[in-house]
Amino acid sequence: MNILGLSYGYHDSSACLIIDGIVHQSIAEERLTQQKHDANFPTFAIDEVLKNASLSMDDIDQVVFHEDPFQKFSRVLTSSIAPFPSSRREFVNTAKTWLGKKLWALNSISKRLDVHPSKISYFNHHFSHAVTAFMGSGFKESAILVIDAVGDWSSTAIYKGEWINGKPEIKSLLEISFPHSLGLTYSSFTAFLGFRPNDSECSTMAIAAFGKPKYVEKVKKIIKVLDDKTYKIDQKYFNFSNFYKGPLTKHFIELFGEARNAQTPLTFDCFKKDKTIKKEDQFYADVAASVQFVLEETVLNLTKKAKELFISENLCYAGGVALNCVCNDKILNNSPYTNLFIPIDPGDGGTSIGTSLYYNYQNQLIDREKLRYNPYIGSNHSEEEVLTMIPDINPDQHQRYLYENVKSKKGTSWKCHTFENTKDLCKRVASLLYDNKIIGWYNGKSEVGPRALGNRSILIRPDNLELAHKLSTKVKHRAAYRPYAISVTKEDALNILDINLNKIDNYRWMQYSAKVKRKSRNAVRAAIHIDNSTRPHICKKEDNRVYHNLLSEFGKLFGQEVLLNTSFNASGYPIVSTPLEALSILGRSDMDAIVLNNSLIWKEIR
Ligand SMILES: [Fe+2]
Repeated sequence: MNILGLSYGYHDSSACLIIDGIVHQSIAEERLTQQKHDANFPTFAIDEVLKNASLSMDDIDQVVFHEDPFQKFSRVLTSSIAPFPSSRREFVNTAKTWLGKKLWALNSISKRLDVHPSKISYFNHHFSHAVTAFMGSGFKESAILVIDAVGDWSSTAIYKGEWINGKPEIKSLLEISFPHSLGLTYSSFTAFLGFRPNDSECSTMAIAAFGKPKYVEKVKKIIKVLDDKTYKIDQKYFNFSNFYKGPLTKHFIELFGEARNAQTPLTFDCFKKDKTIKKEDQFYADVAASVQFVLEETVLNLTKKAKELFISENLCYAGGVALNCVCNDKILNNSPYTNLFIPIDPGDGGTSIGTSLYYNYQNQLIDREKLRYNPYIGSNHSEEEVLTMIPDINPDQHQRYLYENVKSKKGTSWKCHTFENTKDLCKRVASLLYDNKIIGWYNGKSEVGPRALGNRSILIRPDNLELAHKLSTKVKHRAAYRPYAISVTKEDALNILDINLNKIDNYRWMQYSAKVKRKSRNAVRAAIHIDNSTRPHICKKEDNRVYHNLLSEFGKLFGQEVLLNTSFNASGYPIVSTPLEALSILGRSDMDAIVLNNSLIWKEIR
């Protein structure tokens, strides 16, 4: 049975191909179009997953979509009617958009892919997140918690998942509906703090570490934790039905003051921890710390609620809020569950995987063991084409493009060496990293989800603060308040991280923050936050043999098998998809070299 899963329409479009219960490939549209969080119909991702399996749409038995367009239409229409007549224009626009385009998502899929509507199935959006978490977990039974911004009508939901007679059964136990949304509330605070909502929530989380939760009582006027362990959002503070025009009402401004000016740079710096902080910046960091504190408390309460509704030692957790790695750490270590699973991509992009798997296992009897899949199921491109093109690409042109008004480094040329085997490649790259080089590492199939897990990563040694600062300012172009993360082998993880041995597998996909042990803080000082935490990727040999080898080779020189690892992308762009995009970043930034599978390419100034 061949199933095509689709996610699109809000953000993070993706396509996934499942063949007889096995995840064949999953690709985010943004990687192919290089438009961050691309929400368009995933035309290119569909083409690629089909092409790589040598299939056409005629071979697809069912197309599965990640939300119920009718329920969503009902929610959007009702919420735009609520403030009527002041929202008259918005109501008309909403109705036009939905009637003209989104409501007919099923017709649209049918037309675009030329499939009969009977071959298209859809699930409620939160249900899609729930099945994505449960199907990837390996649990025989589990409670499932989904916390998202909004999808269909739900914004938070609790389910139970069980395997009954060889098939997955997922039942809803509790639903908290829009507009009572923790995700939208956190995004609204993100807007207040001067960051882009639905994109830069990680910045809110990052500056929270610089603050103290001084305004918890104020935040609790907005997020009201109820006696039954659920919550309500006081709607007088927000305008969720018109989110993108400005989610904050005058009541919010009366409570917290004016929103931060997004154009004013913040004074926080992960690399200069003794830097003087402006008083107003400190205020916003304290607000961030306060909303982060209340979020964690509310989510922990919801995990207790889930336990009340379904007794299990296992919890699956998904939805956009499950990208908050600091909150995830609190769930991992303080919730009433022994085992916690968060899918590789807990946001919308991952739902194409979960829904198509669920449909497949519902309609075909397949051994549950086939469900195991790793993150390296994305696109893959050979470096051959780029190696052929190199003599005709002038690195000076890339430099000139970036530094139009700056003196360019004229006379640069590419150098390239292709290694016979990965062992020699890893030795060479480890030596370059030890010598303070910045290396873009592009190897094999890309990872699904938002994190770089050693196949599309930029790497440096983890103890060089100056080099990390250069990485931020001359390569990634990202704010100094955002900390970097580490990759560490399983063998060295407990030497560096203050984590529980029994939970070591949870850290394989960079989903939790963790404290660095005092004795190792110096060794990884370029990749730890102001509170001595990092977001580790613990690499096991069986998960990624080549990358594990690189970490081991670096460990032979450095003393510990650990590297600073950040995603291989330019500021504001998705992770690179093709070798040419990787070469382009090398050309226009202060990166020293890139690895494209077995080939090392570097710049040399004559
Ligand atoms: Fe979602």
